[in-house]
Amino acid sequence: MNNLNPVWIREQFPSLEQRVDTTQAVYFDGPGGTQVPKRVMESVNQYYLKMNSNIEGAFLTSQKSDQMLTNARNAMADFLNARSAKEISFGLNMTTHTFNISRAIGKSLKPGDEIIVTVLDHEANVSPWNALIENGIKVNCIDIRTEDCTLDLEDLESKLNERTKVVALGYASNAVGTINPVREIIRKAHQVGALVFVDAVHYAPHGPIDVQDLDCDFMACSTYKFFGPHLGVLYGKQEILDQLPAYKVRPAYDRFEIGTQNHEGIVGAMAAIEYLADVGDHYGKSFLNQYQDLEGRRLKLKTGLSVIEYYEKELMERLLAGLEEVPEVKIWGITDRRLLHQRTPTLGFTVTGFSPRKVAESLGCKGFFLWDGDFYAQALIERLGLLSSGGLVRLGLVHYNTSQEIDRFLFEIKRLVRST
Ligand SMILES: Cc1ncc(COP(=O)(O)O)c(C=O)c1O
Repeated sequence: MNNLNPVWIREQFPSLEQRVDTTQAVYFDGPGGTQVPKRVMESVNQYYLKMNSNIEGAFLTSQKSDQMLTNARNAMADFLNARSAKEISFGLNMTTHTFNISRAIGKSLKPGDEIIVTVLDHEANVSPWNALIENGIKVNCIDIRTEDCTLDLEDLESKLNERTKVVALGYASNAVGTINPVREIIRKAHQVGALVFVDAVHYAPHGPIDVQDLDCDFMACSTYKFFGPHLGVLYGKQEILDQLPAYKVRPAYDRFEIGTQNHEGIVGAMAAIEYLADVGDHYGKSFLNQYQDLEGRRLKLKTGLSVIEYYEKELMERLLAGLEEVPEVKIWGITDRRLLHQRTPTLGFTVTGFSPRKVAESLGCKGFFLWDGDFYAQALIERLGLLSSGGLVRLGLVHYNTSQEIDRFLFEIKRLVRST
């Protein structure tokens, strides 16, 4: 069924040609930030050449910038399946958006109101909510099942009540890849009248997103994690955004876009979305029947992200099978093959006898780009008891990675453990 062609895909990403000494680099650092297709670079270049201006002027470059912003907002609405482009705000990054929204929501909360966050989350979806504790708000943290790093839904049930005003949770964990049952949690949160803020930063490059189907009230993501420039995106249900107090200058059009925006980043984000739609156009045909209610770019994006999801799952199966032959490697998170749809191909692991930094360094010399540490998923690393030992090594696959790269990695990790 899957017919994604990694050769065509890789041709779109010129930076993948990077070498470390004489060795071809392997980019396993996607969860920290992905590479960009050439059309993203070209669009940024074109922006500077043909449109560079501030907005709302009576002259050509300004009008082009206005049009570009409208087009980009529409593209992002298609990417998230928002009802309208008015529900999309651009910004510096996800963290800034989240602090803005927590501050705005916090204005209407009273002492004794409660907020739920999770142990699995990146600090960007924890600290902004913890900042409200000083106003007398209680923040409850949902635990995980440590055996597979999934959320403890019974703990959620026990903490969710009519005092809960916000549930803030990640779509997927950037440290261990767990995809949370977001739709189910949103439904439960709405039953007690709570708003739900979803951090989709880690999930976004790995599968189709549908804010209408999820029914989340807010979602934030960052385009540098899905093949675009460094830029944050906020989705909010229009009727809820309209009621929130916004920290903005009086004449500004968008209530949650503060000051002049990063136009060159926004144009690049739109090109990244067009690229993903093209992946759907080229390779997503076998998924068409799943999305019969959609058309145009929304359909292409859904099929594109679906074929990516399928391809990544195959890579993940190969990686897990290979690592299971190395008893010194411990994988933190879901490994059950029947549950691979509940995880992204982001693998957190440790190696007996080697610190995560040592593993990352040894592999770094061989051309592998991969992260070690806590990745700001501090509560999780603490909960797993890994804070003092340097956290995890994180191998993040995206759709420009290949089975050959995995085989090279497996060869090197086996060599490393034999070196003791
Ligand atoms: C899951 C997750 N959430 C939030 C963030 C923060 O995003 P930003 O860098 O756009 O503020 C990151 C960044 O690594 C992340 O991985």
